[in-house]
Amino acid sequence: MNIAHTCSLQPGLAYTPEIAEEMAPLYQKVKSVIPPMEWPVFAPLIRAINQLKEQRGAIILAHNYQTPEIFHGVADIVGDSLQLAREAAQADANIIVQCGVHFMAETAKLLNPDKTVLIPDLGAGCSLAESITADDVRALRRQYPGVPIVTYVNTSAAVKAECDICCTSSNAVQIVESLGADRVLLVPDEFLAQNVNAQTDVDVISFSGRCEVHERFTAQELRDFRAGHDGLKIIAHPECPPEVLHEADYAGSTSGMIKWVQDNQPPKVMMVTECSMSDNVSVENPDVEFIRPCNLCPHMKAITLQNILDALLYTRHEVHIDPAIAVPARRAVTRMIELGR
Ligand code: 13P
Ligand code: SF4
Repeated sequence: MNIAHTCSLQPGLAYTPEIAEEMAPLYQKVKSVIPPMEWPVFAPLIRAINQLKEQRGAIILAHNYQTPEIFHGVADIVGDSLQLAREAAQADANIIVQCGVHFMAETAKLLNPDKTVLIPDLGAGCSLAESITADDVRALRRQYPGVPIVTYVNTSAAVKAECDICCTSSNAVQIVESLGADRVLLVPDEFLAQNVNAQTDVDVISFSGRCEVHERFTAQELRDFRAGHDGLKIIAHPECPPEVLHEADYAGSTSGMIKWVQDNQPPKVMMVTECSMSDNVSVENPDVEFIRPCNLCPHMKAITLQNILDALLYTRHEVHIDPAIAVPARRAVTRMIELGR
């Protein structure tokens, strides 16, 4: 059934004085990161999405890399990959709209096989997820018989189905150590595996995948920023090269980085990760100055207010997973979630 024909709400997308007044409190909150020129376009869309979401019994999950108008305007739940997976597992809604990349929507579907999971743009991929196939994992099993295989959550369901357990950047060390093995394969992110290897006695074998956003940061770039900004604190994501993490004051998942800023309130901080994070976090930390090296994730940026509205209006794009893949892939994800309990 096409909801566009049955829905009583026909979103009026003009920026009327009524909409301006209704949306003014939200603009007060986000005005430091959304220019006044853009608000007349965003405000009616945000309002329409929030109305339609309620009408359809939908929930919007958004990753920390989503743009501020999505993160602060329409998301019901925001977080890192682990938090979004956990929240998806508990979602009390008929429809889940995943504002993130495709593997995140697949994870939500794995944990909610009977619900409708939508991703507003099917092209929102991930360089890590695309770096490894199920065949690659089967070849690794033959090459390393008996060695457990941990997959970063940034992979397709088909890859997860071939692995023993999932991990995210916030629990990778804990998951690797939980297996009680001397050697563990951690795929596909080469740098995450190297960074985990540095924190454990387990011998962590890596694969050759990389995040196109985080691999570009260099240690020299961080040293230059530090030299140019007195008292600068630098916090980095573990998908960065090890020499970058070596220059940082803290390394952790996107939510770990957010918590670090909230707890430490540094006068100046640089988040060595995707661009939108600093915008999103700065809204709630007005006393912290954010120095922004800008690397954009084009996949995360494929999600827009317009395609979120279309997702809700037309029930698109629905995520489906072949049951033969979904059963073992779900096992790998739930095993990770249960270990964290
Ligand atoms: P987090 O799990 O830390 O949010 O990372 C996801 C991701 O895609 C980072 O590039
Ligand atoms: Fe994938 Fe990197 Fe984008 Fe995260 S930032 S979704 S790892 S390409």
